[in-house]
Amino acid sequence: MNVVRTVRRLPKIARNLARDLRYGKPLGGTMRTRYAHLGAHDVGNADYDDLAILFGEAGVLPDDVIVDVGAGKGRSINWLLAHHPENRIVGIELDPDVCADTAKRLRRYDHVTIRCGDATTMLPPDGTLFYLFNPFDETVMLRFRDALVATRAGAASRTRIVYYNVKALNVFEEDPRFVVRMIDDPRLTLPSAIVDLQAK
Ligand SMILES: C[S@@+](CC[C@H](N)C(=O)[O-])C[C@H]1O[C@@H](n2cnc3c(N)ncnc32)[C@H](O)[C@@H]1O
Repeated sequence: MNVVRTVRRLPKIARNLARDLRYGKPLGGTMRTRYAHLGAHDVGNADYDDLAILFGEAGVLPDDVIVDVGAGKGRSINWLLAHHPENRIVGIELDPDVCADTAKRLRRYDHVTIRCGDATTMLPPDGTLFYLFNPFDETVMLRFRDALVATRAGAASRTRIVYYNVKALNVFEEDPRFVVRMIDDPRLTLPSAIVDLQAK
């Protein structure tokens, strides 16, 4: 472990912890995934300050249905509850234990639904703003992309993706149905993009 780096990050860790506690319990720390064979990445947590930048760039609309694809322990949903309390939120998480914990912690919020399973098979058709924090590898991302296009075919409202830590961005860059805009904000700790699905 890099002690200097950890010490430097302590104020941020403390701020994130305080914000977690408003929604029930500390969420910090990364859990190794048990589903790497399914292309899943580890169960980590977004940084609250990054979320403000990401969703600020996306421009959340009052009627957006926000889908957290790979909701993990639900820290991003905490942030959404604090800043966009009127929007409907759907979190989808592959790991059944993590999913059950998150669903239990957030059960009192009527407009939050947590679904357990592979997000590529259960995207809500009325979802408009899809948030991904590097949840899976390129193979699964290709599946997600095609599922999204199929689910949103003919939808009247816009479809966009907030992609945080863009490890498989080529999936969208190489596809003419999508327009990719990198977020150019030096405060952001991980490379991120807004991806728009073009209307037909
Ligand atoms: C980095 S964590 C995201 C944490 C959370 N969204 C946040 O921003 O704080 C990525 C999550 O994606 C989940 N995941 C991986 N593949 C998935 C899939 N096919 N369907 C749903 N969730 C998946 C992982 O289990 C992991 O919990």
